[in-house]
Amino acid sequence: MSKYIIHGGKRLEGELHIDASKNAVLPIIAATILSGNTTYLYNCPRIVDVETMVDILKQLGCKIKWDNKTLIIDTSTIQSYDISEQLVRKMRSSIILLGAIIGKFGKAKISYPGGCPLGARPIDLHLSAFKKMGITVTEEHGFIICESSHLRGAKINLDFPSVGATENIMLAATLAAGDTIIYNTAREPEIVDLQNYLNACGAKISGAGTETIYIQGVKRLHSVSYKVIPDRIIAGTYLVAAAITRGTVTLKDVYPSHLRAITSKLEEAGCTIVEDVNQITLISPKELKGVNITTEPYPGYPTDMQSQMMALLCTCNEMSIIKENLFEARFKAAYELIRMGANISVEGRIAIIKPTAFLMGTTVYAEDLRGGAALVLAGLAARGTTVVEDIEHIKRGYQDIALDLRSIGASIQERE
Ligand code: UD1
Repeated sequence: MSKYIIHGGKRLEGELHIDASKNAVLPIIAATILSGNTTYLYNCPRIVDVETMVDILKQLGCKIKWDNKTLIIDTSTIQSYDISEQLVRKMRSSIILLGAIIGKFGKAKISYPGGCPLGARPIDLHLSAFKKMGITVTEEHGFIICESSHLRGAKINLDFPSVGATENIMLAATLAAGDTIIYNTAREPEIVDLQNYLNACGAKISGAGTETIYIQGVKRLHSVSYKVIPDRIIAGTYLVAAAITRGTVTLKDVYPSHLRAITSKLEEAGCTIVEDVNQITLISPKELKGVNITTEPYPGYPTDMQSQMMALLCTCNEMSIIKENLFEARFKAAYELIRMGANISVEGRIAIIKPTAFLMGTTVYAEDLRGGAALVLAGLAARGTTVVEDIEHIKRGYQDIALDLRSIGASIQERE
């Protein structure tokens, strides 16, 4: 198991380029199955979750190769609808393969998905939508088997604007007979990117980014080259890295509008944010104020940036309150931050963060992807040396966080 060794207290300053979004590229890779052709995805991040998705597609019979940062996927040779249990367990997002594989074969088999241990992560919304589209869903011995001899469009109202369910329905509906309307959809930028990719391939989808998505089923898709949107969560993490060290950073290749919920909280804490086309600069003062945060579906404050912001709030000079509405188990990093001297109390979905004199370096354990990133950020601000163990979680979403942070002045090394 690898670890990060961080010598804290260095003020970060410099420029970083942001890669393509993990949460956008994963459903797009799944969507390539529908095209049955060769797709070129530019500027793709070589993170563990992408490698896992690539392995799953290869195991289904697709031919895939990397050309620098371009992922070339030929799905014309796909033969199987049965997704390996071992690979699915590595990544919860593999559930979005269901919609694409059913769309392609009229049949799919998958085990219940894995991924971050974020408490109960049900998939009832995905499955009930599939049933409305004429898909028979059977669950046996930990496997989900979906079958449909006549996949058809339907009107689907989501009880909650689930990102994964919205994507899965879009994928299943693209080649279905007739029209699909999804009400109360997730509005995340990654949903808009999936729509844009599918439409570039010949799909007829509109409304992504609003509460209602319309999909007119088409007979087939064609191949395209596509550039996926930048990762707003990596961008947010690096803005917080600058703020927690009271430094300044300019991020290139970002869409500032995707980050508003994050940048407005950083401004409320006292940071200066300067936006330009595809660029954001953060300048931090020496003292930061506390802020209150409630995680919500987009355009609200993202749960994927909750832990990183918690690390920052530990270094502010006023009390802050975080309410986590999406995933009940997303406060795991709080207990590691407490071991670093943070003054945090957690009660159910609420965390209260009080000022602390300073964070102290110690050995901490990454228990999930974003919580792990938060511990790295805390280490940048802490006195002495912080060792972050179990960094495999972090590598699911950050290609090389140590290299990026070193390039703007951090002292962080990866060790076996
Ligand atoms: C996606 C993101 C993840 C992010 C999350 C919320 C990807 C690969 N992952 O995950 O990084 O944290 O959105 O922004 O894009 N729910 C149900 N039933 C369902 C589906 C979801 O009750 O069938 C609940 C979940 O338990 C959770 C909430 O809905 O409380 C949000 O989940 P969802 O939006 O589906 O998140 P994911 O797609 O899993």
